[in-house]
Amino acid sequence: MRILITGGAGFLGSHLCERLLGEGHEVVCLDNLFTGRKANIAHLLSNPYFEFARHDVIDPFKFEVDQIYNLACPASPPHYQYNAIKTIKTSVMGAINCLGLAKRLRARVFQASTSEIYGDPVEHPQTEAYWGNVNPIGIRSCYDEGKRCAETLFFDYHRQNGVDIRIARIFNTYGPRMLANDGRVVSNFIVQALKGEDLTIYGDGSQTRSFCFYSDLIEGFIRLMSQDETTGPVNIGNPGEFTMLELAEAVLREVGSKSKLVHLDLPADDPKQRQPDISIAKEKLGWEPKVPLEEGLRETIAYFRKDLGV
Ligand SMILES: NC(=O)c1ccc[n+]([C@@H]2O[C@H](COP(=O)([O-])OP(=O)(O)OC[C@H]3O[C@@H](n4cnc5c(N)ncnc54)[C@H](O)[C@@H]3O)[C@@H](O)[C@H]2O)c1
Repeated sequence: MRILITGGAGFLGSHLCERLLGEGHEVVCLDNLFTGRKANIAHLLSNPYFEFARHDVIDPFKFEVDQIYNLACPASPPHYQYNAIKTIKTSVMGAINCLGLAKRLRARVFQASTSEIYGDPVEHPQTEAYWGNVNPIGIRSCYDEGKRCAETLFFDYHRQNGVDIRIARIFNTYGPRMLANDGRVVSNFIVQALKGEDLTIYGDGSQTRSFCFYSDLIEGFIRLMSQDETTGPVNIGNPGEFTMLELAEAVLREVGSKSKLVHLDLPADDPKQRQPDISIAKEKLGWEPKVPLEEGLRETIAYFRKDLGV
């Protein structure tokens, strides 16, 4: 197949490009390089089955493809809050442009949605049936509400125009090619530990997150796109739950660092607990994560050591 990946030069997108090329597909990678990097795809540029298009998903685009993966959107709070209006435009207009193209081509289209659509959840763990608890006017709303609106658009195009959609709700994912400065907790801790700086913990560190290694996640994407039983939304994430203190300690152990932990104020609307219920992914996709946290951290730490030269 010929497959379009928006946001293909980013952390997850570049791994997805690699995986699909490895399976013998042709890949068109569309990215405006806001948080993506050419370095992430440099090794693919000489592959005749790979094309890079520097383009913004807000502006219409046409490619003749069989499938579309829509990943374009800054994913970390400092990046999506940098230009909040642009972020929500990216989610909403990016979805409309992908869906319009999918409709014309009768192509299957995938949306990278997020656990953020559950907001600060009052149900735990979160199933796909939970509608969420999202602040519509807060500093995270440009991302959360943009992604919620994109899901609405996907379902409206599906109901109204029969577009063949798939939606994955992605929970925290980590791995090589995350940006060192993106403010996400795994990269923050690793970079701080490698530089011998204090590890910054927001609040008392008792809030929990679950962390999925990128390779597990990409496997979930492919399985969702390769089956006809469900459109989603399907939670894709690792249900193993860790407190921020536990994560900090695991990073210090793997890096072999003696950095100290310092506590800062909790940012506004920071969810206290987040854990996916992955029953649907298990049942419909036969998917569950395989890579343990220590193993994923080791690979990610090795990447950052090289990337930062420390
Ligand atoms: N990594 C996670 O833990 C996680 C969790 C939930 C959802 N997601 C979603 O998965 C997708 C990929 O996330 P990621 O972690 O790889 O982040 P990322 O920031 O590395 O990737 C996003 C990519 O989209 C590109 N992009 C941003 N705005 C664009 C625009 N207007 N036009 C074209 N390209 C644009 C960026 O340059 C970047 O390459 C995002 O949609 C994100 O919301 C990721």
